[in-house]
Amino acid sequence: MKKVVLAYSGGLDTSCAVRWIRDTYSAEVICFSAFLGEVQDRKVLTQRARSAGASKVYIEDLKKEFAHDFVRPALWAHAKYEGKYFLATALGRPLIAKRLVQIAAKERAGCVAHGCSGKGNDQVRVELGVRSLNSKLKILAPLREWSFSSREEEIAYAKKHGILVSATKKSPYSIDKNIWGVSIEAGVLEDPWREPPEDAYRITRPPDRTPKAPYYLTIDFTAGIPVSLNGKRMSLVPLIERLNALGGRYGAGRMDLVENRLVGIKSREVYEAPAATILNLAHEELESLVLDRELMHYKRLLSEKYSELVYYGLWFTPLREALDQFFASYQNRVTGSVRMKLQCGSLAVVGRRSPRSLYSERLATYSARDEFDRAAAEGFLKIWGLPYEKKR
Ligand code: ARG
Repeated sequence: MKKVVLAYSGGLDTSCAVRWIRDTYSAEVICFSAFLGEVQDRKVLTQRARSAGASKVYIEDLKKEFAHDFVRPALWAHAKYEGKYFLATALGRPLIAKRLVQIAAKERAGCVAHGCSGKGNDQVRVELGVRSLNSKLKILAPLREWSFSSREEEIAYAKKHGILVSATKKSPYSIDKNIWGVSIEAGVLEDPWREPPEDAYRITRPPDRTPKAPYYLTIDFTAGIPVSLNGKRMSLVPLIERLNALGGRYGAGRMDLVENRLVGIKSREVYEAPAATILNLAHEELESLVLDRELMHYKRLLSEKYSELVYYGLWFTPLREALDQFFASYQNRVTGSVRMKLQCGSLAVVGRRSPRSLYSERLATYSARDEFDRAAAEGFLKIWGLPYEKKR
């Protein structure tokens, strides 16, 4: 019998997919669930997968690997698709693809499957990821193949086959959540003119329901890695989780945008990414203190490219790897602290310092201590403007 490893979320789609693959391809289905943010109840997840006909269930907490191997490079790259989206969902998919391929090898399965829809970006990320790691694997995408056309049909199918499904009412939105952020789409959000209702948000408070007093926080970085919050040393995952909770309480990190999907559609998306917003701003701010102008300006162009690669599912590619090396090459300078202020939905940098700082008060000051050579400015200006002089 054929063996298929399915990326399993425990939701209705992938639960039906277990049974559907088993029956359609007379295959043995092994489920794989990854925790990249929320930790689900392993027992419940296993029961559901088994009720749908899974022969085996892998459940793995991959938060640490996600934080170190995907989020950290994205932070160094200041990756934001179309200048706004911190790519939480997009960064998670290549890791899931990687584990699918590894489990398939271990189980001697010739096939992997996923529950991504046929019109989104996620199918691209999972399938390109799988193919660049093992092009011999066959890939099944039941949601592109099967004939269910509504949720009701899927529920009826689940009922008929004794598949356990969540009893809680389904949210009107499609939500993907991990430690780097929450992606929310569908339902009333499909009208781009309509303000997202409060119930769309998962981890942030609206600005008018945040504490009135400002909250000051200090983040210390060592060689580009955020290592402590308010003087307390923390490893990456707990630090990100803490910043999500803190930022969320102060309403920071909400985004509402119309973005260009790879498959050609424009879609309205709402995102919540308090930790990503705070860490990106802090890291960028520290870089402005320690990097020279040319490097700072040039790397922004590469950030744009990097964000596209991640969004387009091109994680396992030479260019992404090369860009990671570029961004990593100067991180040893990015050591220091950034002080920030959270208040009523806003986030501001209020201070920064670094032992590697290139800021010189002697040169910047307008006071009597000034050591800047003004006389040299004259010659510099003469030559700088020379090509543009208007001859009459
Ligand atoms: N548009 C985002 C992306 O392509 C998020 C998609 C996430 N899926 C969801 N169910 N909301 O990365």
